[in-house]
Amino acid sequence: MNQLSRHLLPLGASSDDEGRLKLHNVDFEEFVEVYGTPLFVYDTDDIEDKVRRLIAAANWRVAYASKAFLSVALLKILMQYDILLDVASGGELAVAKAAKFPGSRLIFHGNNKSSVELTDALTYGVGLIVVDSFDEISRLSEIAKVQGALPRLLVRVTPGVEAHTHEYIMTGQEDSKFGFSVASGAAKAAIEAVIDDANLEFAGIHAHIGSQIFLLESYRKEVEALALLLRTYRPEVINLGGGIGVAYLNDEESGDFERWARTLTKSIDELNLDYSYQVIVEPGRAIVASSALTFYTVGTLKEIEGIRTYLAVDGGMSDNPRPVIYDSGYEAFLPRDLGADRDRNFRIVGKHCESGDVIIKDAYLPGSTSVGDVIATPVTGAYGYSMASNYNRVPRPPVVFVNSNGHRLAIRGETYDDLLRLENFD
Ligand SMILES: Cc1ncc(COP(=O)(O)O)c(C=O)c1O
Repeated sequence: MNQLSRHLLPLGASSDDEGRLKLHNVDFEEFVEVYGTPLFVYDTDDIEDKVRRLIAAANWRVAYASKAFLSVALLKILMQYDILLDVASGGELAVAKAAKFPGSRLIFHGNNKSSVELTDALTYGVGLIVVDSFDEISRLSEIAKVQGALPRLLVRVTPGVEAHTHEYIMTGQEDSKFGFSVASGAAKAAIEAVIDDANLEFAGIHAHIGSQIFLLESYRKEVEALALLLRTYRPEVINLGGGIGVAYLNDEESGDFERWARTLTKSIDELNLDYSYQVIVEPGRAIVASSALTFYTVGTLKEIEGIRTYLAVDGGMSDNPRPVIYDSGYEAFLPRDLGADRDRNFRIVGKHCESGDVIIKDAYLPGSTSVGDVIATPVTGAYGYSMASNYNRVPRPPVVFVNSNGHRLAIRGETYDDLLRLENFD
């Protein structure tokens, strides 16, 4: 029986006697009737559970990488926890400001922050700014001088470890648009430039080795690569980035928070640093990915004799560009019959004018799946809505939050008027 593995569904998911999907006892059809499709539904109890477990996993501070998914409603939930927030653009900062997320708990990233963005960050009292280039260090110094602020900085370094899902690669000469290379001495020079600048305060170092990391050994390599910098500059903050992997497919297993914490703690302990420091981690995907699923309506089925059957849904690459960008895999299921054998192969495609607009190349769904059915793809909570576009002027779908208290709209769906609001009609 090729059924969807339940570990891909959020905490509040269950099925009733007829096998229909419920999220916190709300039948899936209620979401579809109230909000339509395509639709993102996030189980916020699931998000809060992950936040609590991450915070408890080690003596570290957790920063949520908001690029994974950001909304005011989400920040209002996260704000109640002892959590920091990574924002990586003036736009993400603007959402944090709109949610009144305290500036002191923000970490501001970006390899090419503009003067306007840096000024906004200082004005809002952002707790840590992660500098990424010599140009930025001097630009920020000028802005800080004018404002009479003393920003606390992390210097982003490229440790020469690149982690790709199940492997890591030690790169000799790093080739990345992010950070200062440790191997070339640029990281050392950047740290010293910050330390020597009276307008800036050196708070620590930052490194991020990639995303979807399952091999914890990669993190040990990361810490080892930073050892000399840590011993030399004794940074108060050691930010080791995010990237812990998440299961998208039946046969995958998400990274374990406690094991991740133990790996990092042990690796740092082994350096025998003789001063006190604060470790920060910055997961995004691990907090939100599996808390959400996307509902679509099947619009057409096109059977090409001897080749395959295309199943087209009412969304596509505009609400989930990950399959197109990263060739990422997803599962699909029929929420009206969660336990049914998924015995028929389909290629699930979107509605965009692009042959590559594929959501799942080889999906399995019950043979009874037909036009008008609602299908769902689980684990769409990270880098789906946040990477959504209006390609073909398709409006972005609504985002709904559900928990044990019921459901509510977090972000309304776009209308055609929204799509026209930037046009000049003169
Ligand atoms: C600097 C930084 N921190 C954290 C993250 C979050 O990564 P993930 O969502 O894989 O945990 C990213 C992702 O690109 C990143 O660039």
